[in-house]
This record gives sequence, C-alpha cells and structure tokens, in this order.
Amino acid sequence: MSNSDALISRLHELQTEALDLVASAADASALEEARIAFLGRKEGRISLVLRELGRIDPSERAAVGAAANRVKGTVQAAIEDREGALAAVEAAGGVALDLTLPGRRPARGGAHPVAIVMEEIWEIFRDLGFTRARGPEAETEWTNFEALNTPLDHPAADEQDTLYLKRGGLLRSHTSPVQVRTMQAYEPPIRILAPGWVYRRDTYDPTHAPVFLQVEGLVVDEGITFVDFKATLAEFARRFWGPGTQTRFRPSFFPFTEPSAEVDVKRVIEHADGTVEETDWLEIMGAGMVDPAVLEACGIDSERYTGFAFGMGPARIAMLKYGISDLRIFFENDLRFLRQFGPDGRGGTPA
Ligand code: PHE
Repeated sequence: MSNSDALISRLHELQTEALDLVASAADASALEEARIAFLGRKEGRISLVLRELGRIDPSERAAVGAAANRVKGTVQAAIEDREGALAAVEAAGGVALDLTLPGRRPARGGAHPVAIVMEEIWEIFRDLGFTRARGPEAETEWTNFEALNTPLDHPAADEQDTLYLKRGGLLRSHTSPVQVRTMQAYEPPIRILAPGWVYRRDTYDPTHAPVFLQVEGLVVDEGITFVDFKATLAEFARRFWGPGTQTRFRPSFFPFTEPSAEVDVKRVIEHADGTVEETDWLEIMGAGMVDPAVLEACGIDSERYTGFAFGMGPARIAMLKYGISDLRIFFENDLRFLRQFGPDGRGGTPA
C-alpha cells in the first residue's frame, strides 16, 4: 500500500470514530470536546494526519487533500446536526423531541356494540311514545319477586339463582322490579322503557354472564289489549330488523304475565346479488299481558286498567345482529373487536 492509500484509510477510520463520538455527545460541551479532538487546528487528529502530507509523493497529495476535506466536511456536518438536536432537546425541557416526525393521530373512542343496540332499541320505543325509567340495582325480595306474583319459594328466588346481600335484600335478577316501582309512583297511562344491569348466579359461558343488561318495557292504560301488545312488539321488530321481519308469539310462562309469550323474529336478509334469505326463528324477548295480581300489588285497579310488559337482553340482540356466537367477547374489551364498530358505531375511522 502506498503512503497516500494508507493516509486515506487512516482518515476514514478517524471519520468513523469521530461520528461515533459526535452521536454520543450528551451535551454541548461534550460536542465541543469532540470537535477539538478531531478538527482542532493544532492537535486535532484529522489535522495531525494532514501534517504528514509532506512525506508523500507530490503527485498523490491532491487525492489525499481531497479525501481529508470530505472527511472534515462530514464530521463538521455531523457536529452541526447534533448541535441542533441537543438544542431542540433543551428547548423541549430536556425531552428528546423530533419535530420532523409526523404527528400521531389520537385514537378515537367508539360506542360498545351492546350500547349501540341499547340506543337503537331506546330510539324506537321513544318514537313509539315511551319514556325512560330506572330503578336501583339493589332491590328487595318484595319488588324483585313478591310484587311480581313470584312467591319466594319459586325457583327463581332460590339462592342458586339469585345473589342475596348480606344485610338483606338482593341484587335484582331482572329489570322487572322497575315495573313495580313505576306503577307505585305513577298513575296510568304508563309507557316506560327501563334499561339496566341485572345479576344472576350464572356461570360465565358463551351465552351466560353473572351480570348483564336488560331492557324492560311496560305499558298500562285503560283498554290495552293483546292486539296492542302484539302490534307494538311486531312494530319494534320491523323497525329494528327491517320491514320484512316476521314476528311469532310462542306461549310461555312468567309469574307476572298472563298470558305470557316468548317473542321470536324471522329476518329477511337481502344479499348484494339480489337473493333473499330468511333466517330461522330467533328468540328475542320474554313478554306478556301484565297479570292483574301485579297491578293490584302495585296499587293499580285491575278492573279499570290492563297492560303488557316485555324484557329483552340487548347483548343477545347484539349477538344476533352482528353474528357473534360467544357473548364473553362483549366483556373482554379487546380493541381489535371494539374498533370494528367505530366511533359511535356508525362508521367512524378505526384508530
Ligand atoms: N323478567 C323476565 C326475565 O328476566 C322477562 C320478562 C319481562 C318477561 C317482562 C315478561 C315480561 O326473564
């Protein structure tokens, strides 16, 4: 290797060392030390190399000089960049801040799918003339069972099914006690929708949770008949699932309604290619005509007034609506699941 080649590779080694030192300089004085160590006119290591220029063949000096100038320029530029970065950190109160990075979009929250369904249910009944009602989650045996024509030896009142509180009372096992409280507090006409949490001693599995939401409905007035009952719930189903939706009232039993029914819907799904598909019958709620014994227990004259009531689980309805087979996904709050519903659940930008 000729002398000039040796000097050029020496310069490149120095450049690497200098850039490392500059990059790790933690403050302005460390940076100045690095500058003096490499570029200082007298003792700078790059300057010292150039002093050896005299020892090489004059025909090769130009090449070495040019290489030296490139290395100096590179190190000088690195020092200036580092100076700028350190000044920015200082300006930001000591926090490293790269003002050239693109900003980060804040994630926008969205409504939970069960909340979306609750809101849709509420809007439909609101348009049908219902008002919202609510009641406490800690209830008495009387409001949760007895006033609802359910004797305390009924299986639903058993400790196997209901969570009793140590100092008396229980966590409501359905929203039906809101019927009782509303009838006690208001004269008919009554038309309420009562959403809320309910509690049961159920194991947590794909279709059960020990705490879940229900939506209760109650209508009491003079002359309310089975026709009003069926027509109101069929209208709800059409507004919720679409105009082609059929409704079926299957005989059932609840202590507080007579007759009682389980309400099923059959949906008509129109596919993009124009084909139409009918679903199976899907159960959406329990319902019935209010038992006169319940009206009487709540101080309402059952000779004069009649009514109907219904109760549904919005999580179950959300499962049917969105094609979800395991309700536990509603409780896990996995953002990958929740983001599909977007802000307000109405097609916002996923974060
Ligand atoms: N309370 C009943 C339940 O939790 C549902 C229901 C409400 C049935 C109103 C009839 C009338 O299962």
